[in-house]
Amino acid sequence: MSQNDHPATAAPTFDVAAIRRDFPILQRQMHGKPLVWLDSAATAQKPQVVIDRVVRYYEQENSNIHRGTHTLAEVACDAYDDARDSVAVFLNAATQDEIVFVRGTTEGLNLLAALFSDSLLKPGDEILLTQAEHHANIVPWQFAAKKSGAVIRVAPVDDNGDLILAAYERLLGPRTKVVSITHISNALGTVMPIREMTQMAKRVGATVVIDGAQGIPHRRVDVQDIGCDFYVFSGHKLFAPCGIGAVYGRHELWQQLPPWQGGGSMVQQVTFEHSTYATPPKRFEAGTPAVASAAGLGAAIDYLNSIGLEAIEHYETELLAYALEEIRKVNGLRVIGMPKERGGVISFVMDGLPDLQVAKLLDAQGIAVRAGTHCAQPILARFGLQSTLRPSFAFYNTREEVDVLVETLRGISARR
Ligand code: ALA
Repeated sequence: MSQNDHPATAAPTFDVAAIRRDFPILQRQMHGKPLVWLDSAATAQKPQVVIDRVVRYYEQENSNIHRGTHTLAEVACDAYDDARDSVAVFLNAATQDEIVFVRGTTEGLNLLAALFSDSLLKPGDEILLTQAEHHANIVPWQFAAKKSGAVIRVAPVDDNGDLILAAYERLLGPRTKVVSITHISNALGTVMPIREMTQMAKRVGATVVIDGAQGIPHRRVDVQDIGCDFYVFSGHKLFAPCGIGAVYGRHELWQQLPPWQGGGSMVQQVTFEHSTYATPPKRFEAGTPAVASAAGLGAAIDYLNSIGLEAIEHYETELLAYALEEIRKVNGLRVIGMPKERGGVISFVMDGLPDLQVAKLLDAQGIAVRAGTHCAQPILARFGLQSTLRPSFAFYNTREEVDVLVETLRGISARR
């Protein structure tokens, strides 16, 4: 068979109407209109299977873990361990012990910054960030810099919101000990070339952390392929409950790191004089964890796998391209950032109209978008702004919803 005889690669099948039926909240009305949820970058909605999993946990399985000898304790332990397994497979980690559960991305980045300031970082060392970071990937490193005497360096983005890779490369050097970079900018939607950036950082021996809060809901993540040392994400942006997130870390790196919070579960032997610590991941999971939320995260991952990550990415890419094209046609509207590759969000401002006022007018029509700083003040300052409006998209959104948004924006623009 010649190459031309092969059938064209079919787009993966995707039934958005069926998918929307999986999300009970998407059926509700807001101010008498169908809810148009365009705030998934702040938090994603939850499918029924995730809600059911949490309810089943509390109805049938609730117990503390790693402490009991009774049957329910084993059931709850299994639920927690299964969730860790699901996360490990989802990220293509080498073992489930590479996954440490945390409350979310913010806690995960604080954990790493605190651990590194106690072990890895010395005075004069450099921590390299990008201009597009969320506050959660800036402030913890400021704490770490203050504690260790390290300094923060920042790689700039260009007028499109793309990283200036040559400038990033120039900032890498023998003093660069940590590189911590966002996968996808929550304010602009820029998809960072994290694989290439990781390779460059590895050449100078830096430890590479990826803030995956906005990345993992929109792109397949293979931590071994990326080559990063740590990848951090939140469950609640991945269609799972609040209060659970994970930090992937390479096994040998976790092994070398000291504990962070002290308490039950993270120890082996305790006397008043001295304690010895559990091996990772337990070393970093003091206290009773969010077991039900972890089980919910496992259910969310199963759900995403059942739809297919390729189908999701394909659908979202088309939807986002359509949304960008239509939104840009609105009079007096300026999109902020036109990155080469975009994921999840579109930021814009409207001439003469305060962002909060526009967001309120959209809300009155049932349309939820975020307005404000997006916890990313430095990147907005780069564009001379203090805030933007930011619709953000997930695979349950539709072209019809984009049309409702655009029509409403047109009406708002015309009334000026
Ligand atoms: N970091 C979240 C956002 O971008 C809350 O909206």
